Amino acid sequence: MAEMKKVEDSLTEQQYLICPAHINHYGRLFGGQLLKWIDELAGIVAIRHCGCTVTTAAIDNLQFRAPAYTGDMIVLRGWVTCVGRSSMEVRVDTYREALDGRREMINEAYIDMVAIDCHGKPQQVPGLLIETEEQQKQWDAAQKRRQMRKERRQ
Ligand SMILES: CC(C)(COP(=O)(O)OP(=O)(O)OC[C@H]1O[C@@H](n2cnc3c(N)ncnc32)[C@H](O)[C@@H]1OP(=O)(O)O)[C@@H](O)C(=O)NCCC(=O)NCCS
Repeated sequence: MAEMKKVEDSLTEQQYLICPAHINHYGRLFGGQLLKWIDELAGIVAIRHCGCTVTTAAIDNLQFRAPAYTGDMIVLRGWVTCVGRSSMEVRVDTYREALDGRREMINEAYIDMVAIDCHGKPQQVPGLLIETEEQQKQWDAAQKRRQMRKERRQ
């Protein structure tokens, strides 16, 4: 059986300073830019979990809750919520961080990453060791989303 990994083993944070190049024509952070950062971070989380190459299978449920502007510092925080045989659901929360360190969540996203071998074929990933009630809650919710996605694909 493949080894088990903890949620913390792949939990990843990344910060960005919003510059004019990231801003759209009405002065807010461009959604496509944030999506790129989210996708990259989810990829890093997934690679850290499975230790191999991954590809994005789906970006599910991306919710922009609040805008960000030039000069804002934003923080992306991503972790694995559940795994299947070869797939991993990664949640990425994005925050705007104020000068005093307080964080306001501006985006929540769920990304399905699949571990692939050198031929691009799905390969088995380590299991996820669930250690807290919150992690169990997220695992259960992820299973429901996974089922819904499977039904949609069929
Ligand atoms: C993702 C991909 C590797 C899956 O390959 P596949 O041969 O269809 O694999 P399977 O049907 O056996 O599914 C493998 C796993 O992927 C999951 N999966 C496949 N398509 C999915 C989708 N659209 N959304 C979410 N999960 C998906 C399956 O649920 C399965 O999970 P499990 O092993 O944990 O049960 C393949 O579809 C692919 O390469 N897609 C293009 C990805 C890409 O290029 N992304 C970059 C962005 S453009």
